[in-house]
Amino acid sequence: MWSFPLLPDRASTVATQVDMLYFFLVAVSLFFSLVIIVGLVYSAVRYRKDSKASREGAVHEHLGLELAWSIIPLGIAMGIFVWSSVLYLGMHVAPSGAMEIYVVGKQWMWKIQHPQGNREINELHVPVGKPVKLIMTSQDVIHSFYIPAFRIKQDVLPGRYSTQWFQATTPGVYHLFCAEYCGTSHSGMIGKVIVLDQPEYEAWLAGGSSTAMSSSGAELFKQFGCQTCHKSGSSQRGPSLDGLFGKQVALINGEKVVADQEYLRESILNPAAKITQGYLPFMPTYRNQLSHEQINQLVEYVKGLGGQTSASEHP
Ligand code: CUA
Repeated sequence: MWSFPLLPDRASTVATQVDMLYFFLVAVSLFFSLVIIVGLVYSAVRYRKDSKASREGAVHEHLGLELAWSIIPLGIAMGIFVWSSVLYLGMHVAPSGAMEIYVVGKQWMWKIQHPQGNREINELHVPVGKPVKLIMTSQDVIHSFYIPAFRIKQDVLPGRYSTQWFQATTPGVYHLFCAEYCGTSHSGMIGKVIVLDQPEYEAWLAGGSSTAMSSSGAELFKQFGCQTCHKSGSSQRGPSLDGLFGKQVALINGEKVVADQEYLRESILNPAAKITQGYLPFMPTYRNQLSHEQINQLVEYVKGLGGQTSASEHP
């Protein structure tokens, strides 16, 4: 039996809401298109040249009509604005306590690492019924992480983190696409999202022999000699990182920033950009020395040093 589904599966908590908004927009557009086309064709035929239809009593001004066709569309447009904004914000801001998974896009594959250490390529295993937040970056050009069945899509950019979140509602296997043209094999930059029951997901996590990201980060922290400056003590030349994550940091220029993922990443790659009050710009850049995966591991390590977990970061 042939089937031609018009829409992908709906497998996340927002999928139905996104579809409702979409159908509403289509219905509004169809309705007004019909009103205009019917009126246009009717008038064109009835008042064509040579027709005997009466041209008497043409209306040139009608305050009530003009008010109506201004106020009603305004109301509809504002309704769409409020509706879509509420939906967008809800889709954009991950609930606190969402589990976090790191994604690195590159030409032409998706590299994924779970905090427990498990790595995968072009596959993303997640548990059903749990909010999952993706912390994404690209090591080359702009990509876009798109899961149609979840109705979510977000650009993945070089030089910064972007995030998105979802909560899967139905176990199964779903498409994962790159939705931003990124070069020759863009169309091959595809994968699978595998939604598992919680026990299955835990079994899958346990199945891979891997080092937790924060432990890998701790290794790197030693290997690159970070502790010589950042460990509390008499020889301390850099700010302590204990309990730093999520806190406000006062900078030498008087500004304040939140020590989120983006801040940590920037401070590793471009340390001079934001110098903490009371410290000098000693730190060299680690650009070209660390891979994006390693930076993610260092970020996880610093997160593990305390402070609030993943409350506020750049969307
Ligand atoms: Cu990556 Cu298109």
